[in-house]
Amino acid sequence: MKIGIDKIGFYVPHLYVDMNKLAKARNVDPEKYTIGIGQEKMAIAPITQDSVTLAANAALDILDDADKENIDFVIFGTETGVDNSKAAGIYVHHLLGLKPNVRTIEVKQACYGATAGIQMAKGHVALNPDSKVLVLASDIARYGLRTGGEATQGAGAVALVISRDPRIMELEDKSAFMTGEVMDFWRPVYSEYALVNGKLSNEKYLSFFEEIWQTFKTSTGLSIKDFTAICYHLPYTKMGLKALRTIYDEGTEADKERLLENLEYSKMYNKNVGNIYTGSLYLSLISLLEHQKDLEEGARIGLFSYGSGAVGEFFTGILQPNYQAHLNQKQHEEMLASRIEVTVAEYEKIFEMILPKDGSTVQLDTEADPAKIKLAGVSEHIRQYINNNRHKE
Ligand code: HMG
Repeated sequence: MKIGIDKIGFYVPHLYVDMNKLAKARNVDPEKYTIGIGQEKMAIAPITQDSVTLAANAALDILDDADKENIDFVIFGTETGVDNSKAAGIYVHHLLGLKPNVRTIEVKQACYGATAGIQMAKGHVALNPDSKVLVLASDIARYGLRTGGEATQGAGAVALVISRDPRIMELEDKSAFMTGEVMDFWRPVYSEYALVNGKLSNEKYLSFFEEIWQTFKTSTGLSIKDFTAICYHLPYTKMGLKALRTIYDEGTEADKERLLENLEYSKMYNKNVGNIYTGSLYLSLISLLEHQKDLEEGARIGLFSYGSGAVGEFFTGILQPNYQAHLNQKQHEEMLASRIEVTVAEYEKIFEMILPKDGSTVQLDTEADPAKIKLAGVSEHIRQYINNNRHKE
């Protein structure tokens, strides 16, 4: 039975800051951000968007009534969830009006969470062939103003439907993964901001990729020539190039050219959004599929997932006949084009807005946020969400 990605879409908040302008404000050569790091725009989440609303908006755009009827498992991957106990997916389940007979959980392992969710979804569909699983990958990346990681922040969510007979990509069983104790990036429960050892995180990302790639090749017999493209977790887009460089001489010149060309397509959305943590790899996959028009059915795509801490996995997918008909490039391009640029001063102001932590009531001004699903406030420690497609939740 073929199992894989039947639908995939993403949502980003309506605000962004230009990386050239951020560089100037930080007294940095803009080319460090645009070339050295490879980012052009950074998505900014207004206070009316959190990881729940970003995910719900992403899912809203891809689900139809048949999906809602058959989804019996919601897996929400995030490292910037809104509650230490309740799964963020339950809010999404409610906001989308899914049926009650659904399992809902939240998965956390830094940027690897959604990959764990996808593998779990695959197992669930293998046991329950008529089931569909909604996998959500949603985060707001925050290192803090004027920190080393500031230029690698971002916000957004990817939603995927995993089912049998997938219309976009079959996920093969071939996979290699590993875990290691690494303090490269973490966020203590008391902290709004991630703590990071930037240099170590780059080194560990690369050493995990190299080791997992060797294991993958040995266990599957596949090599670089078997891949039309490889998508990477992209904390910033230069990272993908750094990883590909470690292996691209293993094949012919044509293999190297093909993988480098397709890497460019796989970065197009990410360089305009920034790091969305657990959704970044899947945003890169959407970017490749929606921009590279020459990918043929049967093409094998490699996917490298890395979550600091650390867990990494390399797995593969095969494009399905007519997969292009099930993508939403026009809608995604329109969403990105309709975003509003904020100045660095405005970005700093938005960044510093926080919700009360003492249970006091706050009602947010949601008028300026064009999203269908938004956070309208907090009352008695309970987040108040609105879905303009439906009613006040
Ligand atoms: P930094 O110290 O600001 O930058 O840290 P740098 O000095 O390393 O320079 C960055 C690049 O820009 C270098 O290129 C420079 O040469 C180049 P590289 O050697 O890397 O190829 N450069 C220039 N290029 C053109 N013109 C110029 C110029 N100046 C310099 N004028 C760092 C950068 C990414 C480390 C920092 O932003 C950071 O700490 N970010 C957060 C951590 C991170 O993203 N790590 C990535 C791997 S870990 C991961 O992916 C997991 C993660 O997503 C979390 C999770 O799992 O949840 C982060």
